[in-house]
Amino acid sequence: MPTRLFSPYSLRGLTLSNRIVVSPMAQYSGNAANEATDWHLMHYGNLAVSGPGLVILEATAVEPRGRVGQYDIGLWTDAQAESLKRVLGFCRQYGKAAIGIQLAHSGRKGSTARPWEGLAYQGEAEGGFTPVSGSDIPYPGRPNPVVLDHAGLAEVKDYFVAATRRAAAIGFDLVEVHAAHGYLLQSFLSPLSNSRNDEYGGDLAGRMRFPLEVFAAMRAAWPADKPMGLRVNGSDWMEGGWTLDDAVVFAKALKDLGCDYVCASSGGSHPDQKLDVGPGYQVPMARRIREEAGLPTMAVGLINEPAQAEQAIRDGAADLVALGRGMTYDPRWAWHAAEALRETAEFAPQYARSHPTMRFGDFTKLVPGAGKKG
Ligand SMILES: Cc1cc2nc3c(=O)[nH]c(=O)nc-3n(C[C@H](O)[C@H](O)[C@H](O)COP(=O)(O)O)c2cc1C
Repeated sequence: MPTRLFSPYSLRGLTLSNRIVVSPMAQYSGNAANEATDWHLMHYGNLAVSGPGLVILEATAVEPRGRVGQYDIGLWTDAQAESLKRVLGFCRQYGKAAIGIQLAHSGRKGSTARPWEGLAYQGEAEGGFTPVSGSDIPYPGRPNPVVLDHAGLAEVKDYFVAATRRAAAIGFDLVEVHAAHGYLLQSFLSPLSNSRNDEYGGDLAGRMRFPLEVFAAMRAAWPADKPMGLRVNGSDWMEGGWTLDDAVVFAKALKDLGCDYVCASSGGSHPDQKLDVGPGYQVPMARRIREEAGLPTMAVGLINEPAQAEQAIRDGAADLVALGRGMTYDPRWAWHAAEALRETAEFAPQYARSHPTMRFGDFTKLVPGAGKKG
């Protein structure tokens, strides 16, 4: 019986060959000008030839103050766009996966050292900057952010739109808006980090207003035949924080603005969060959003077994399944899942002889492209 995981899926004019997505994962490997480097060429190039339907590039800062750290990649200069075009060109030349990009602003969590250097805040003396946010509530342990007034909000929105235009000009297939994990857009959504007393704070409608305005402006700047999704928190895992009920209301509003899918993630708003982590722990969040908001969902979070990924789609919890750490641990995850589920995944012809079915085969019978389905 054909599986759901390896069935094609269409979002607007984009058809993915299967439902397997490489989740956006910061590589902390940009150069001093926040351009993509050879690391990105190797990392995304390798993933693009390894069978997933979609690879989403890491959180890419829309402006200098939107960087999580100094080694982020960005998309506010033409040179940054050129560096990403090189990565995209490689992925297109050798791989079959669709390629998306996550656009992000770090907000009050900006300017930190890389994880392997301890994640401490880096001030100007260390080449960092003072973070900005919608409210005067620092992320615990970090400095007080500069509060964005109306002009500041308009400027941030313009940066998101300009990055979207650059992503379109380079030819990305999909844009994902980062509105999770305590970064700028999510800090507006969560009552833990939004104390504004203007139209961008207060009740849920007020807290959603700025992220929705940004989404609408980006959607208008992005080609109508290409999909745009958004990563949302299903929970802050904190008393008094953002809830799954809130995420459903938010997803309904996004749907009205032409959002094509929501990826249900969680956490990152506060260090005291009480995460309840286990296999597929965020899948129920994707399910509720899908069922109640009627929007396609992407499930993510400890979905490492092929049968588990298949089940999330078969059960109707999600339309797409994203893998993060499992994918860097085993970049050929899609090939191995295809083998486990008796399916086929895109297979670079250069590697065709390594496919299990070819090990005892006559490789002289291989014709160019014959190994593409393995
Ligand atoms: C090294 C690393 C970097 C990450 N960077 C991002 C990111 O840029 N944007 C994002 O939305 N999530 C990011 N995440 C979260 C992953 O996309 C994913 O949601 C999370 O790791 C859970 O999925 P997994 O259990 O399959 O790894 C990152 C995770 C890791 C491990």
